[in-house]
Amino acid sequence: MAILITGGAGYIGTHAMVEFLNAGREVICVDNFSNSKPCALERVKQITGKDFKSYEVDLLDYDALEKVFVENKIESCIHFAGLKAVGESCEKPLLYYHNNLTGTFNLCALLQKYGAKKIVFSSSATVYGKPASVPITEDFPLSTTNPYGETKLMIERILKDLHAADNEWSVSILRYFNPIGAHKSGLIGEDPKGIPNNLLPYVAQVATGKRPYLSIFGDDYNTHDGTGVRDYIHVVDLAKAHLKAIERAEKVSGVEYFNVGTGVGYSVLDIVKAYEAATGAKVPYKIVARRPGDIDECYANPDKAYRVLGWRAENNIEDMCRDSYRWQSNNPDGYGE
Ligand code: NAD
Ligand code: WQD
Repeated sequence: MAILITGGAGYIGTHAMVEFLNAGREVICVDNFSNSKPCALERVKQITGKDFKSYEVDLLDYDALEKVFVENKIESCIHFAGLKAVGESCEKPLLYYHNNLTGTFNLCALLQKYGAKKIVFSSSATVYGKPASVPITEDFPLSTTNPYGETKLMIERILKDLHAADNEWSVSILRYFNPIGAHKSGLIGEDPKGIPNNLLPYVAQVATGKRPYLSIFGDDYNTHDGTGVRDYIHVVDLAKAHLKAIERAEKVSGVEYFNVGTGVGYSVLDIVKAYEAATGAKVPYKIVARRPGDIDECYANPDKAYRVLGWRAENNIEDMCRDSYRWQSNNPDGYGE
C-alpha cells in the first residue's frame, strides 16, 4: 500500500519524500514539474538509496491521474501540489483558482473512488490573514488577503465538507509558517525561478554573491526592531510533521488543524544577523519601502501539534541558516537546466 505524494518534486515535497522513504514507507510521486525538475527526484533517491515510482501527471488531467490509482494500491495522500506565489496569484487569479481548486477536486474524487480517504493538506499561516495578536492558535479567525491564500482557505473548507458528508475521511490540515533551510546533504533545497520572492532564498543568493544586497521591506513595523517578524521553520522539521500527521490519520478519522511552526518569531534583521553568524558570509542590505500586503508579526503557538501528534521542531535558526547556505553554495543555479 502506497502513499501518494502530489507535488513531491517541489521544495517541501522532496524533503517529505526523504523522510517517508527513510521511515520505510512506500511513496508514489505525482508532479507536473510546473515549478520543479525531475532531477530533484533523482537527488531524493541518492540521499535515501531507495527507489520509488513517479508520474509526470497534472492533477487537472483526471484520466491521467486515475491511471495512477488503477496501477497502484494507494491508501492515503500528502497533497503538496499547488501554485504558491502570492504576487502572481493577484495577477493571475483564474490560474490559481483553477490549478489549486480543480486539481484538489480531481484528487479528492479519486481518493474517494478508490477508498483512500486519508489526506494531509498543505495549508498556510496565510489563512490567519492579519492576526489580531500573536502567537496564533488554530482557533483564530480565518481570512485572506490574496487569491493564493483564498485557495488555501477554500480547500480547507472543501475538505471539512467532505468529512461532514462521509465521516470515514481523515483530514489533517497543516498550516505551515515560513519553511526555510534545506536537507543536510546539500543535495535538495529551494530552487526559486528567477528573482526570489521570499526572504531566505534571497538572503542565500546575497550571501553567496549572486545578488549584491538584500532589500528589507520596511523598518517601521510594530516589532522589536521595526522589521517584519515571522516564524521560520526548518523544512526537514516540517517534512517530519507530515509523517506524524499521516500516522495519526491512519488511526483516527476526522478533520484536524495544526500549526506547524517553532513558536519563535525572528525579524528580518535578526535573520540577517543569524545568517552572517552561522555562515561567516556577509549579507549587505538596504531598507526600502514596505511590500504591500505584509503584516507586522506572525508566529505560531505550535503546542497542539506537540500534544496531539507528538511533533515539535528540532532545528534552530542557526541550523536553518547553515543548511540554506550549504544548499545555495553547492547549487548556485539550483537544480540547473
Ligand atoms: P513548490 O512549488 O516547490 O512545490 C509544489 C509542487 O507542485 C511543484 O513541484 C509543482 O510542479 C507541483 N504542481 C503544481 N501544480 C500542479 C498540478 N496541477 N499538478 C501536478 N503538480 C503540480 O512549493 P513548496 O514550497 O514545496 O510548497 C508545497 C505546498 O505547500 C504548496 O501547496 C504550497 O502552497 C504550500 N505552502 C508552502 C509554503 C512555502 O513558503 N513554501 C508555505 C505554506 C504553504
Ligand atoms: C518574510 C519577511 C518580508 C523578502 C510568504 C507567503 C505565505 C507563505 C510563506 C505560502 C517579511 C521580508 C522578504 C525580501 C524582505 N507561503 N522580506 N525582503 O511574506 O511571511 O510569507 O511565504 O503559503 O503565504 O505570503 O514570507 O519570506 O516573503 O517574507 O524584507 O526580499 O521578509 O517583508 O517581513 P511571508 P517572505
